Amino acid sequence: MSATKEKLLSHIIAERRATPSFDGTPIPEADLKKILDAGLHAPSGYNMQPWRFVVVRSPEQKKRLRLASFNQAKIEEASAMIVACGDADGWRNGDLDEMLRLGKEGGMSESYSEQARQSIPGYLSNHPNMAMWLNRQVMIAFTHMLLMAEALGYDTAPMEGFEQEKVREVLKLPLSYHVVALLAVGHLKGADKPNGGRFARSRVVFDEEFGRHMR
Ligand SMILES: Cc1cc2nc3c(=O)[nH]c(=O)nc-3n(C[C@H](O)[C@H](O)[C@H](O)COP(=O)(O)O)c2cc1C
Repeated sequence: MSATKEKLLSHIIAERRATPSFDGTPIPEADLKKILDAGLHAPSGYNMQPWRFVVVRSPEQKKRLRLASFNQAKIEEASAMIVACGDADGWRNGDLDEMLRLGKEGGMSESYSEQARQSIPGYLSNHPNMAMWLNRQVMIAFTHMLLMAEALGYDTAPMEGFEQEKVREVLKLPLSYHVVALLAVGHLKGADKPNGGRFARSRVVFDEEFGRHMR
């Protein structure tokens, strides 16, 4: 679909399902780029953008990825697989400079930039749980991509059923990369999965403090 009219976000949120099976039709390059770019616009801590994505479309590579992901058939059926990763060392290898360069282009003050250059390396090199930090950032970009794909008329499936080391080997990822999640994008084949239902607001949302339920 070359989207002149994108679906409404409220409609996507109400209707989206984790797609059980895809028909394998190729995805136009322009749509794929629009989906990827939506993720690249996501917010991240300090704007550090530690995400990295590997797009897998070739039948051979999809087959290898499937074998690294508990043989889940939808990996081979999807039009494209987006493998979302976080790079623990991005900030050491140029991302900090690039973030500051872009920031200054957008009007970041010299004093903020100096302060960020001092504090970010300290924060990230001593982070008690880098995998968690990466996960937090990468999943926001991932979700932006998922929603944009749905807006353009695609069906999606988020996936955590994969083996980290096997995916690393298939994609030839550096050791500093953590594979966070896989996003399958394509068109539904057959019947969609039924709606599994969602917890009520009264169960999971508190008002001002734990235990006080929202009316
Ligand atoms: C982070 C994440 C990982 C998931 N991993 C898988 C997976 O590996 N395989 C799969 O079939 N479904 C996977 N799912 C889909 C969930 O089972 C599905 O989203 C959930 O049951 C709710 O269904 P719905 O998305 O259709 O509302 C995953 C979903 C999320 C958010």
